[in-house]
Amino acid sequence: MQIVILSSSNCVAEYGAALFIDQLAAKPDSVLGLATGSTPLALYQLLIAACQQQRVSFASAKTFNLDEYLGLAGEHPQSYRYFMQQHLFNHIDISPENTAVPDGAAVDPVAACARYEQQIADAGGIDLQLLGVGRNGHIGFNEPSSGLYSRTRIKTLTPATIADNSRFFSAGEYQPHLSITMGIGTILDAKKVVLLATGVSKAGAVKAMVEGPLTAACPASALQLHQQAIIVLDEAAASELTDIDFYRHIERENQALHNRLRQQ
Ligand code: GLP
Repeated sequence: MQIVILSSSNCVAEYGAALFIDQLAAKPDSVLGLATGSTPLALYQLLIAACQQQRVSFASAKTFNLDEYLGLAGEHPQSYRYFMQQHLFNHIDISPENTAVPDGAAVDPVAACARYEQQIADAGGIDLQLLGVGRNGHIGFNEPSSGLYSRTRIKTLTPATIADNSRFFSAGEYQPHLSITMGIGTILDAKKVVLLATGVSKAGAVKAMVEGPLTAACPASALQLHQQAIIVLDEAAASELTDIDFYRHIERENQALHNRLRQQ
């Protein structure tokens, strides 16, 4: 794991956006894994601006989202498909047929999960996967106790996640308790993973993910197994880490090496 600690949530978004811009510059037909939630919003704003200024293009890219509420069709304002249209896809030069979000309205959701896995495989696998983290350590909708090698499937949400996400639903509005989510194994198959976490409410989950044991009790800890996982944090999200000075030291060394190589 590469642990990057930055001074503000804006810097976290800028760092994450630069990874996506560099990825598309190196490989315009990249397969991108995308996430919802409030954390990636600032990053999406930066990608939209970069695309409008022609500093990046999604014209040849394909995207796969992590998850979707089971029971919500893409037109539903609380669906993750709708979220992605509003916050990214409608504002960039991506072809609609190259954007995939699990089908929350599938008649046969089990078959839809298998199809989603097949679609990812047919696209050649995910090059760069964006992640946020839930306060209970979930990634996508892989709640605690999720199998560490799990694939795309139906998952029941914990009461804590339902409560955390209730802010997006109005009073009395139906809020699903089930989801379709890429599995932890699906996420681990991505060639590169970048997880963003900001704010003190994520500090406990970040501590468990980075310094806790590898355990299904904290699904994000599975990223300890990944060869290219970059964890980008603001000071508040990093505030419970014990070895924080060491992570800063490594990043200074990485930066010095990077600068030296660039000068050669
Ligand atoms: C949801 C999503 C996750 C996301 C998490 C954190 O449950 N399924 O993919 O990482 O919320 O969201 P936020 O960024 O709003 O804290």
